[in-house]
Amino acid sequence: MRVLLSALSVVIAGAAGAQQAADGVAPEGVGVGEFSGLGPRVEAALASKAEGAPVVAQDWMVAAAHPLAVQAGADALAAGGTAADALVAVQVTLGLVEPQSSGLGGGAFLVWYDAASGALTTLDGRETAPLAATPQRFLDADGQPLKFYDAVVGGRSVGVPGTPALLAEVHERWGKLPFADLTAPAIALAEEGFAVSPRLAGLIAEDVERLGRFQATADYFMPGGAPLEAGDRLTNAAYAQTLRMMTRDPASFYTGDNAAAIVAAVGGAMDGAGLLSAVDLSIYDVRERAPVCVTYRAHDVCGMGPPSSGAVAVGQILGLLEGYDLSAGPQDATVRRLMGDAARLAFADRGRYLADTDYVPVPVKGLVDPDYLAARAGQLAGEKALDEVAPGAPEFDHALNRADDRSIELPSTSHITIVDGAGNVASMTTTIENGFGSRIMVNGYLLNNELTDFSFASHEDGVPIANRVEPGKRPRSSMAPTIVMKDGAPVLALGSPGGSRIIGYVAEAIVASLDWGMDPQQAVSVPHAVNRFGTYDLEEGTAATELSGPLADMGYEVNATALTSGLHLIAIGDDLRGGADPRREGIVLGD
Ligand code: GLY
Repeated sequence: MRVLLSALSVVIAGAAGAQQAADGVAPEGVGVGEFSGLGPRVEAALASKAEGAPVVAQDWMVAAAHPLAVQAGADALAAGGTAADALVAVQVTLGLVEPQSSGLGGGAFLVWYDAASGALTTLDGRETAPLAATPQRFLDADGQPLKFYDAVVGGRSVGVPGTPALLAEVHERWGKLPFADLTAPAIALAEEGFAVSPRLAGLIAEDVERLGRFQATADYFMPGGAPLEAGDRLTNAAYAQTLRMMTRDPASFYTGDNAAAIVAAVGGAMDGAGLLSAVDLSIYDVRERAPVCVTYRAHDVCGMGPPSSGAVAVGQILGLLEGYDLSAGPQDATVRRLMGDAARLAFADRGRYLADTDYVPVPVKGLVDPDYLAARAGQLAGEKALDEVAPGAPEFDHALNRADDRSIELPSTSHITIVDGAGNVASMTTTIENGFGSRIMVNGYLLNNELTDFSFASHEDGVPIANRVEPGKRPRSSMAPTIVMKDGAPVLALGSPGGSRIIGYVAEAIVASLDWGMDPQQAVSVPHAVNRFGTYDLEEGTAATELSGPLADMGYEVNATALTSGLHLIAIGDDLRGGADPRREGIVLGD
């Protein structure tokens, strides 16, 4: 029987009244959940978001995709914790209350600014392919790529999770509070229950058939056979137990009973294609990578390099736009032509070159070289959409013979942005890939389907694709956790979910901040216009669709569609100002 919580009531905001943002800035009626009963701090954050105003604070700030997770992070910061402490608290809570997007069974990338040293560090907690995986993993018996969901659902797509190891590493490097203090709020929620959010309920309802293929998953999301509804009280004793285990020993996730349970669930999945072994889990490691930075409007835009394509692609888009005036704003068709074709050029290079640098040589430096980008930007000087875009030839000391990859990457994922009282900044994008990942649930958490971020085809006409599956390799990501620096100090921290549209969302929010002078709440609310491979996606139900005619006249195929980003942006100056994407349930809290 369902128990509706009264102290934590959740109501679905109607099309009207959910948000009243500035003209042309926020989309209307995009299914935003309104949470009440979570205390005055959360109420104020929700009111601020509904008004389209940024949250302003002096000392610390945290923005993430669910009020309960943000509250856990805020409690850690208010107790004197660092951004690393808050990150752990937010992530383990998100894994419970927003389980479809990220969690212990997934992977993440972190960009960290250390206030004491001024250093920027990027950590790769991406999932890895099993050692038994081969480039044929996503091909059928005839050598043809599998249908997307045939590959996603089941054991074939599951990589070794990286998020638990990343959280342990982050806490060890930069945490101050005991790990037990950071898992306690999520453990309490898991044991005492929390209210299913409107967004989670809506996504369960859309995925009943796939969730129903696995007993543990069906029992959790469809108790008694009926999909959970918004406001239903949900407990997760297995998740609490997993967090207790990790609190005693963070490494225990990768060994012993938990590792055995993952191996058994992946191997026993009905597709019969799971290959994860206990050895795969035991050798997982978090990797520190060099940050990738690009200069834009006298700022340094820094983020996560390969295996993510995020920083290179966002950096390329901005680098290509550096010589053009975008001040006419988001509703100007010429501005959108420039942004759209810059993105197409970046996606052409991404498809040709970007993959896990531990396996294939990638010309990262050449791809973001200002001279290379300036030369390529000359293609944007016309008045029409580019007829065709092709990968460029960035400078590199290897001869590269590569075919292009256009992997399917559907919207998913979550983003967390935090600034602590000492000025440390964390920007982490975190995922289990598709909504509900592989749909396999183990010990209270969902396992990822991250391996479908590899190219399904390994070669084209005998030429290898850089992002093909290989044993132990990390699939290429679009996640773009970003910190923007000015004169060596952070001024913006942001990121978003959204599959390969993440790149466009993040680039647009940076342009909104630096070119259009928008505050963080306005910047995350701009009606989206996103281009990846040529089709111009315009956010349905918003002012962006007014661009449809002018962009079609320029030669684009336009497509009005839902563009559900989940941007969380904090601007750091004399004070802290934060914005949470109106398209999702996240909030910003600060003090
Ligand atoms: N699976 C989302 C990404 O890594 O881009």
